[in-house]
Amino acid sequence: MINSSNSGMRTKAIHGGETLLKDYGHHSAPICQTSTYSFKNVKDASDAFIDCGEGKYHPAHIYARLSHDNGWIIEEKMALLEGGESAIAYNSGMGAISGIIFGLLTTGDHIIHSPSLYGGTHSFLYHTCKQFGITAQSVDLNDSKELNKAIRLRTKMIYIETPSNPTLALYDIEKIAKLAHKKGIIVVVDNTFMTPILQTPLSLGADIVVHSATKYIGGHGDAVAGVVISNRELIEKIRPNTIELGAYIPPFTAWLLSRGVKTLSLRMKQHCENAMIIAEYLEKHELVESVIYPGLPSFPQHKLAKKQMSNFGGMISFNLKGGLQSAELFLNSLNLFTLAVSLGSVDSLAESPALMTHSVIPKEDREKAGISDGLIRLSVGIEDVEDLITDLESAFSKVKKSL
Ligand SMILES: Cc1ncc(COP(=O)(O)O)c(C=O)c1O
Repeated sequence: MINSSNSGMRTKAIHGGETLLKDYGHHSAPICQTSTYSFKNVKDASDAFIDCGEGKYHPAHIYARLSHDNGWIIEEKMALLEGGESAIAYNSGMGAISGIIFGLLTTGDHIIHSPSLYGGTHSFLYHTCKQFGITAQSVDLNDSKELNKAIRLRTKMIYIETPSNPTLALYDIEKIAKLAHKKGIIVVVDNTFMTPILQTPLSLGADIVVHSATKYIGGHGDAVAGVVISNRELIEKIRPNTIELGAYIPPFTAWLLSRGVKTLSLRMKQHCENAMIIAEYLEKHELVESVIYPGLPSFPQHKLAKKQMSNFGGMISFNLKGGLQSAELFLNSLNLFTLAVSLGSVDSLAESPALMTHSVIPKEDREKAGISDGLIRLSVGIEDVEDLITDLESAFSKVKKSL
């Protein structure tokens, strides 16, 4: 049994939730691949439905779209790791983000968000939310004056990505949460880039943490999932919409996350170590205009990074000399880094935000958020760092010949 206050992060990730199925003798949790659950008799079955429906869901397994043991295991692990009371798991990060917003907001409400956001989140806020009369506004959350000015009567949520995707801009969670709470506004932090190993937003005053668990939580590039962590009250407000939208995590995906998260702490350590070495290498490279990595002293918010993060993560963005053309040649020349969207896998990935992940955001908004055409985003994996540098060097040499 895990003692949430005394156990360390590795113990929580490995043992959290695992006792759920121990009564059946399993050492390792099996995949509970069933769509529905049977009852011993009609009395048990009807009891399970007493508190179910119309925004209420009974905490017993009835049907796998509502709950299942593999879901409960990853939820307990994530609640323990983020220091929350409760969690709910989703079939994607976007499922999780929409679950929070549809669960807590209604027509006429207003969301303030950090300027640089994952493209899908941006699109959800300005397309789907708009359809339902929920409005969104980008505000520099580090500017308290601007933030105060932007807050309206119906501002219900401040949504922060920190570090944000892909500019790695940081936002001071503690400061924003203090300001927001004075006005009764809920603060949501997308903690995908950091994971609870490097940053615990709830301990800094945030109300809700969301993850694209597709990334570091799963960690092996083989599952699409999301998780929301908060206090019991907020999770229970969010749960009915999640279930009604059909966004609950499937058993096999939950099992993959529970397996992946067991090594999260070790993986994050190696991601950080490799990324720091690569960031320093890039900073010295003649073809690199600028490197964006929170661990570098040259990073404008290095001080804030040290304050609210325990290490600097595995994501690096950099501007290559020669703009879009060079960026395209560079990406086409990589071998060990895979040209792909997504991040946080054990293997290294590279992409162009302007042409790929953030292409849905209008160019003007992209540039305002610091996403230039020549920006390259690396998700540094846990391979041998010398091999990664050899791969980068070989791509740089092709670019150099072309200039
Ligand atoms: C920071 C961040 N949040 C949310 C998402 C959405 O997650 P998913 O792709 O799992 O739906 C992503 C996806 O890349 C992301 O990078």
